[in-house]
Amino acid sequence: MELRIAIFASGKGSNCKAIIEAVNKGQVPNAKVVLVVSNNKNAGALDIARSAGIPSVWISRQSFDSDEEFNNTLLKILNEYQVNFIALAGYLKKLDSVIIQQFRNRIVNIHPALLPAFGGKGMYGIHVHEAVLASGEKITGATVHIVDEEYDHGPIILQETINVLPDDTPESLAERVLPIEHRLYPKALRLFAEDRVKIDKQQVIILQEQ
Ligand code: GRF
Repeated sequence: MELRIAIFASGKGSNCKAIIEAVNKGQVPNAKVVLVVSNNKNAGALDIARSAGIPSVWISRQSFDSDEEFNNTLLKILNEYQVNFIALAGYLKKLDSVIIQQFRNRIVNIHPALLPAFGGKGMYGIHVHEAVLASGEKITGATVHIVDEEYDHGPIILQETINVLPDDTPESLAERVLPIEHRLYPKALRLFAEDRVKIDKQQVIILQEQ
């Protein structure tokens, strides 16, 4: 089944761009980015979608009276575009369990560190790299994982590491981790597009290429 991806992003959208480019180059066969969703009107991701000719929506919880109304509208939009897979790429709002249930094991996220360390509420953006440096860890990297009801908690699909260098700052680490994210995310999506991801409780088994 074709992967019909909605990318959710709140910020500048470099991962969103990397995914769109990888799909356009045929690096994620049998997949299409059908929608970009943001809770932030000014998200760079929305501009990226526009220039790539991909439909985009700005939808904010603040415009709705209740969670229920917000979630129903979001689900309706996803349904309209026949989305069957969600890639969170710097999306800063927690998805409600109603959405997670509807897309169980079909929502993934990228995190700029090696989970399960340095994840959880408040661990986003530069805070992650600050925490890595403060801990004295010698390696860091990026993780693509399944999204479940807890922050940064679901089964891990792929990780890639880099060394933390003695003179690294949070900014330099962020700068060196980002290109890894851009490589890793399309790789993970490709595994789903090829139906090679099997989930057994907290473990992801990647099936051999046919
Ligand atoms: C990335 O570091 C991603 O891992 C994190 O938020 C950042 C988003 O960057 N969740 P961008 O908006 O994709 O450029």
